Amino acid sequence: MEKLIIRGKKDLSGKISISGSKNASLPILAATILANQATLTNIPMVKDIFTMVELLNFIGLKTKIIKKKNIIKINNNKNYINTLAPYKLVKTMRAGVLVLGSLLTKYGKAKVSLPGGCAIGTRPVDLHLFALKKLGAKIKIKNGYIIAEAKKGLKGNIIKFPTISVGATENALLAATQAKGTTILKNCAIEPEIKDLIIFLKKLGININLKERNITIKQSEIKNSKVVHNIIFDRIELGTYMIAGALQVKKNLTIDKIDPKFVKSEIAILRKIGVLITKKKSSIIIKKNKKLKKINISTKPYPGFPTDLQAQLMVLLTQANGVSKIREDIFENRFMHVPELKRMGADIEIKDKTAIIRGPTKLTGAEVMATDLRASVSLVLAGLVAENRTIINRIYHLDRGYEFLEKKLKNCKAEIKRV
Ligand code: EPZ
Repeated sequence: MEKLIIRGKKDLSGKISISGSKNASLPILAATILANQATLTNIPMVKDIFTMVELLNFIGLKTKIIKKKNIIKINNNKNYINTLAPYKLVKTMRAGVLVLGSLLTKYGKAKVSLPGGCAIGTRPVDLHLFALKKLGAKIKIKNGYIIAEAKKGLKGNIIKFPTISVGATENALLAATQAKGTTILKNCAIEPEIKDLIIFLKKLGININLKERNITIKQSEIKNSKVVHNIIFDRIELGTYMIAGALQVKKNLTIDKIDPKFVKSEIAILRKIGVLITKKKSSIIIKKNKKLKKINISTKPYPGFPTDLQAQLMVLLTQANGVSKIREDIFENRFMHVPELKRMGADIEIKDKTAIIRGPTKLTGAEVMATDLRASVSLVLAGLVAENRTIINRIYHLDRGYEFLEKKLKNCKAEIKRV
């Protein structure tokens, strides 16, 4: 099993370029089932993407990954498609459930493995199925599979989500593209990754309108022209490296290939803590900050503070003066990084869904274990600021969502290596 070894307290400076968004790429890859031909650029070459491509191959699409150029080409000119997403592919990559909407709306049936839970929670898909049923799908659960049918096609409807869900919004949106008539989705998630999916679907010729948290989709012919789409940058990777800079920058750290307008709340919160951030058109500069101040915050659906940055922010708050609180309002079990951070000297207490962080504390290197994607990267951040050496095990979690992590950090003078 590979490990990461980090020698902490090295001042970071230089430049980091942000990769394309994993969480925009996954639903857009599921949407290519609707297309005839698609070329996706700025795709991050990370494990979850390869798993999704393996699933598309299993379904019967022709795919070509050009790793060096971060490009994936998809051809869907075969008329026979296997409308099955098997357990072995969906269990490791839950977003595989996103092929359900595309398969159902285009082929009238789909058999998709129920995605298992994961370290951060049970991860149900009841909201996905609620929306598909509203569009007229017959759904039954058998032997751990979702068996969906729409013999006479899906029919547009007005669907109001009881709670905001990124995946359910994406699955419903994909299913509505070929549903008869008009569909109005209400109380939708509006993450930038969903906006990127909408841009891609519009390129396919789908008539979609997003207004506040409502998305209106009118049944439209899919253009059979070749579609080219550049994936939006990864705002969670950006937030992660902004926090790395806030922890360990001496002069300044430039982070580019981004658009600051998509991370307004993250910038506001980091500035409130005392992080010096300069915004440019397509980059952000983090300067050496003075004292960091405590803060109380809850994770929220976009545009609130993202749950995917909660673990990373917690590391920063171990270095802030005073008692900070982070309330995890999205997932039921997303504090798996806390015991590991405490082994490095962090003073953190959990009360119900709130983490209470007392700072500043000196962190010291230790051997720690990654549990999920974002918890893993919080251990990397802790390793950067801790005395001595930190060894991180089970870094396959990291490889699911961070492209060239060691290379990007080494380029900024961090002492980090994979063994
Ligand atoms: C997406 O997951 C992201 N994954 C997650 O990122 C992210 O943390 C999450 O959105 C929230 O922003 C991808 O985009 C591939 P949800 P998703 O449906 O769609 C509950 C990462 O690290 N819920 O918005 O699964 C659910 O249990 C990953 O990149 C239901 O109850 O998240 C959770 O408590 C981790 N029923 C809440 O809603 C449902 O049918 C939000 O989940 C669906 C969700």
